[in-house]
Amino acid sequence: MGEQPETEIDPATFRRIAEIVYQKAGIVLNAQKEALVVARIGKRMRRLGITHFRDYLRLLEESPEHEEPVEMLNAISTNVTQFFREPKHFEHLAGWLAQWRQEGRTRFRFWCAAAASGEEACSVAMVVRENLPADCDVRILATDLSTRALAEAREGVYAASDMKTVPEAFVRRYFVCEQNESGRRYRVSPALAGMITFARLNLAQTPYAMRGPFDAIFCRNAMIYFDDTVRRRLLDECWRLLRSGGYLVVGSAESLAGLPTGFRNVAPSVYARL
Ligand SMILES: C[S@@+](CC[C@H](N)C(=O)[O-])C[C@H]1O[C@@H](n2cnc3c(N)ncnc32)[C@H](O)[C@@H]1O
Repeated sequence: MGEQPETEIDPATFRRIAEIVYQKAGIVLNAQKEALVVARIGKRMRRLGITHFRDYLRLLEESPEHEEPVEMLNAISTNVTQFFREPKHFEHLAGWLAQWRQEGRTRFRFWCAAAASGEEACSVAMVVRENLPADCDVRILATDLSTRALAEAREGVYAASDMKTVPEAFVRRYFVCEQNESGRRYRVSPALAGMITFARLNLAQTPYAMRGPFDAIFCRNAMIYFDDTVRRRLLDECWRLLRSGGYLVVGSAESLAGLPTGFRNVAPSVYARL
């Protein structure tokens, strides 16, 4: 076995890695994040057989854009998520769908802007299926920075432990249970998977290459990693991409307070585009 990666990073190397992460993804790595960087980049270095952080930094700086920088951001990003995380948001969605149906609308577009491994987009799709007739024209765009998370999302197979927050009836209706030697796994049904398109999109690089308009944007638990400059750019883009009367949903630990936006706060962590 080769040498293990070092367990401490020198300040200059940490600063440079933090600078690159911010430039590329808008993610702020302050001094409190040093242990996280050591652990996550260290894991990446182990895979590459690199012992010293400064050698990793050199590789990162010399690598083509689509190679090590992508892997480094995969390593740095936190992709924690859950089906029906912050369940109140999905109750709001069901209410909006009912109202929009009453208005006679049959075409709906949703965007999950930090979709991680796909649970959020699947949750949106289940609520849509439960509340709209099957002949409505619905598309869900689900994007993320992490190619690793997106690969999991596209595979659409989840461990039994991931299903704890999915109502039993939904598990039966929207997932196919597969048994293999390592246990039970749940595959998203083709009907649900067919509603969702996964793509890589970097929220820190504006303008985004799409036109919208969306009826609702779920941008939950990503802004916490950014500073106000990046948040403002992101919110301007959400404004451009939402239709008038559409909704922006952020994480419950996030807020638009203090940011110059034209959104109106209509419920905790829910904003309407007027
Ligand atoms: C904590 S997860 C949130 C997942 C989901 N929205 C939820 O609330 O459960 C944060 C996600 O933001 C993504 N992310 C971080 N920086 C990003 C960026 N610059 N562009 C796009 N996605 C980003 C990460 O890859 C990660 O999957």
